[in-house]
Amino acid sequence: MKILFAASEIYPLIKTGGLADVAGALPVALRNKGHDVKLIMPAYRGILEKVAPIQKSINLGNPFGVGDLLLLETHIPENDTPIWLLQCQALYEREDGPYVDKNGIDFTDNHIRFAALSWATATLALHGDLMDWQADILHLNDWQTGFAAAYLEEWKTEHLPIVTTVHNLRYNGSFDMDKFVDMHLSPELLSIHGMEFYGRFSGLKAGLVYADAITTVSSTYAQEILTPEYGDGLDGTLRAMQEKLSGILNGVDYDQWSPEKDTLIPHNYDVESLDQKQANKLALLQENGLSEDTSKPIFGVVSRLTEQKGLDLVLEVMPALLDKGARLVVLGSGDKHLESGYLALQKTYPEQVAVRIGYFEDYSHRIQAGIDALLIPSRFEPCGLTQLYALKYGTLPVVRHTGGLADTVFESAVLEDAVLEDKRRANGFVFKEANAESLKSAMERCMECFNDNEKWQEKQRNAMRYDYSWDAVTDQWINLYQSLLNK
Ligand code: ADP
Ligand code: GLC
Repeated sequence: MKILFAASEIYPLIKTGGLADVAGALPVALRNKGHDVKLIMPAYRGILEKVAPIQKSINLGNPFGVGDLLLLETHIPENDTPIWLLQCQALYEREDGPYVDKNGIDFTDNHIRFAALSWATATLALHGDLMDWQADILHLNDWQTGFAAAYLEEWKTEHLPIVTTVHNLRYNGSFDMDKFVDMHLSPELLSIHGMEFYGRFSGLKAGLVYADAITTVSSTYAQEILTPEYGDGLDGTLRAMQEKLSGILNGVDYDQWSPEKDTLIPHNYDVESLDQKQANKLALLQENGLSEDTSKPIFGVVSRLTEQKGLDLVLEVMPALLDKGARLVVLGSGDKHLESGYLALQKTYPEQVAVRIGYFEDYSHRIQAGIDALLIPSRFEPCGLTQLYALKYGTLPVVRHTGGLADTVFESAVLEDAVLEDKRRANGFVFKEANAESLKSAMERCMECFNDNEKWQEKQRNAMRYDYSWDAVTDQWINLYQSLLNK
């Protein structure tokens, strides 16, 4: 099959979160199974230095009137995946991240920036002659590429099956109606059954309503988003289209994330050499000038600091646990009040808390290898990748029972599912209510378990033996694409 895979961030070219990891790995997994996948993404500033020399380029023109849109054909050197980069200086070559300026504020022309990406994606999907490659399937990801489904709907051309994957319903890419004139779409699409969203228009909703299949990144999240609590205003839309919605769990790229071959950690180890994890722990404590007492666990956080992730709860409970000897290593960036909350905690407990604000890929590996337990108390979590990485590193996740966390982290004491009677599956610590008290008791159970070395190591070994590879889920994707082609 020929699959055109569109995303606004793709690792290792650019990454702000899990979408990049997925867009960087699923296409590789599909290609390994013999499918012909091509990527499309904007040529943000600095991207051209990270790809192979451009093999071909064409000028698509530009209905949005901000300089021409050039499509550059190249591939990602690390894994040979072919990619089309959409170049337009006025839209994409900015100093800051892909979505926000240096103050964390959304660019005011994001609707045009991602309409252009979507428009180019739709154009390419439709006109195989442009690049001598005709897609069989178009795979869109999140709101930034969702508008492509609207362009294809508007152009009413021959039907090309569209899959839209929701990585996070909270970011619906909705904009004030007065910006709709910039989109080069007809107002007919603005019905309640179209891309209208509470008086605004939404890229994600376009991606949902005009898709042939909707997927999200775990089975539990696929269920949750049908409810008002998790539906972010789109639950009604999703309930009406339930038959085309499914959940396919994300995988892990174990070439990047395996303690036995990770080149970014000081000491490699596997399930048979857990003593080397201890060496990574000491290195992490030394790097941060923290007390080197290894009799109490080191908790860690590697995360965007947003409401979603529930990290305000960690701030609430942490002093009590620090007073019992725990330590905390934090890497993250996002909401300013959370950033300053963590920095203040570090100031109060300089020997026990180390906080780094910013985005550091290498350091995130050292943390996964060096801590004992990773905190993910999310209010919602479509899939979550950091708990999957943690498991592989024998780092036990402490998670809230929601979305992909509920599908991947298990603690028999809390969950009564028959499957958990099997103690070999226990791989972490789980709590249900999104409040400080529940988090605290899960962290206390974690500290207690840590005191029992045998029990702890058994859980570590369970954790490390889970297989959340892409290989395990790629066939589900292939079956889904195939079912659309057979329709
Ligand atoms: P989300 O996509 O909601 O942010 P995921 O758990 O799916 O959550 O993916 C987050 C990805 O981003 C992981 O690869 C994680 O290691 C990485 N990450 C998050 N924050 C940072 C940071 N400050 N520095 C380095 N990597 C980070
Ligand atoms: C989103 C979600 C996260 C998921 C990631 C990749 O950013 O918040 O849970 O793992 O996308 O699908």
